[in-house]
Amino acid sequence: MLITFEGIDGCGKTTQIKLLKEYIESKGLSVVTMREPGGSDFSEQLRNILLSSRHRVGARSELMLFEAARANLVDTVIKPELERGKIVICDRFYDSTTAYQAFGRGLPLDFVQKLNLFATGGLTPNLTIYLSISLDESKRRTSRPEFDRIEKAGDEFFLKVIEGYNYIARQEPNRFVVVDASGSRQETARKVRKVFDKFFEGFPK
Ligand code: TYD
Repeated sequence: MLITFEGIDGCGKTTQIKLLKEYIESKGLSVVTMREPGGSDFSEQLRNILLSSRHRVGARSELMLFEAARANLVDTVIKPELERGKIVICDRFYDSTTAYQAFGRGLPLDFVQKLNLFATGGLTPNLTIYLSISLDESKRRTSRPEFDRIEKAGDEFFLKVIEGYNYIARQEPNRFVVVDASGSRQETARKVRKVFDKFFEGFPK
């Protein structure tokens, strides 16, 4: 079972993934977590290139590198873990590419979505939890001195990213579940557990 988390900077993905992992493990189930871009040696190296402000990376090369990192992660880590019967939780997956590269950067949506599936070899998440916060909330939570290359993009970019996530939510309401993450950690954790429990109940075992 593949569960992915999505959301803009400051939405609390890292914390919520950790809490959900603990919750699932408390039921005696085995969970592995990873992040995108990254999660394998090759993909972590691409991550450094992608996020470094040293490089001037155009939208097309950015898209290709995210997909290359993803293809490698799927083949070398995610698929083998799923075959071992593990529950895999991934911090971001191809919905990030739809939101950031198609909506944010303006690359053609159809093409990006085809490439997403090409990169994963057809693998799709069983459940995606989108931690929804406003751009204002994101800014309040992420006042830090150093931003990576993508975080440096302006408000207009992030509003388009949010629009992208909302689009996916409308297209795939069963898989892509929106969780309001504007409240406290505990409130959001409760909502996430509820979404997981409901999903898990209906998941064929
Ligand atoms: P990261 O530090 O992991 O950010 P966060 O903690 O917000 O997840 O950096 C990942 C950055 O890469 C983030 O700004 C989103 C961006 N990204 C894309 O633009 N496209 C993608 O396909 C993925 C996976 C990430």
